[in-house]
Amino acid sequence: MNAEEFNYVKKKIRELTQFDLDNYGHNQMIRRLDGYIARFKVRNVVQYCKLIERDKHELEKLKKFLTINVSEFFRDAVQFRLLQDEILPSLLKKNLGLNIWSAGCSNGAEAYSVAILLDRLSPYRKHRVLATDIDKAILNQAATGGPYGAAEVRNVPPALLEKYFIKNDGNFRVIDRICNKVTFGLHDLTQDRFENHFDLIICRNTVIYFSSETKKILRKKFLDSLKVNGILFIGATETMLDARDNGFQRLSACFYRKKSGVPEKSQEPVVSSGSTK
Ligand SMILES: C[S@@+](CC[C@H](N)C(=O)[O-])C[C@H]1O[C@@H](n2cnc3c(N)ncnc32)[C@H](O)[C@@H]1O
Repeated sequence: MNAEEFNYVKKKIRELTQFDLDNYGHNQMIRRLDGYIARFKVRNVVQYCKLIERDKHELEKLKKFLTINVSEFFRDAVQFRLLQDEILPSLLKKNLGLNIWSAGCSNGAEAYSVAILLDRLSPYRKHRVLATDIDKAILNQAATGGPYGAAEVRNVPPALLEKYFIKNDGNFRVIDRICNKVTFGLHDLTQDRFENHFDLIICRNTVIYFSSETKKILRKKFLDSLKVNGILFIGATETMLDARDNGFQRLSACFYRKKSGVPEKSQEPVVSSGSTK
């Protein structure tokens, strides 16, 4: 599709879904949309837009395609081991109860993985795990604790699978006690206000689709939302090369600590756009 066609689709998608493609990398988005629209028997993008205007089901499918909401428990096991063995213990030494945000949480597997780790590392303290996403349908599924397929729990060690999940018909559901430790909420990283005072922000495999300008803005907002010495946990392919200039100390490719001396913002009320649980 050419630039004019992209602008047309972009405008239509914004009207129908409030999803603003301007925040996403254009070339990559055009390639993905071209591939997606080619699956339909339409002559051009205008015809495709007519289709999503009249067919709610196709519109939902498009939203699902745009948000790419795949996730799994302990996704990237090496990083979760680091989280369990070093990052969380060091945060727990300095704070009684942790305030954690999984931003772009998809089906909740990431947030539940952290809740499971906290249950093992510090079962008697009260922590808060906030999990947000732009996709209401996936949040509703996440808030009920599943069900998750075998592929989504493949990294869960057998003993944890036994302890924290209920198996039914080949699928897995997170036990209520862990479900109750995570609060889900609708939040658009590009539009909504950020809460402050987090000990740990996890935002992985979400901003990779955003334009470099949006990524830069988000990095600054994450920095502002962390307490001093708070940690940002990002995806393996999202390494921050200029961490120091952005107010972070690099701990590893995926973990960055907010440097002391960077001001903290005062604590503000919770995420705006309505909570699922
Ligand atoms: C690939 S998933 C990542 C899930 C999880 N963080 C992980 O790494 O397994 C990306 C998620 O980002 C969400 N997302 C996309 N744009 C967003 C936005 N503007 N604000 C909040 N979430 C967004 C999508 O709905 C999707 O669930």
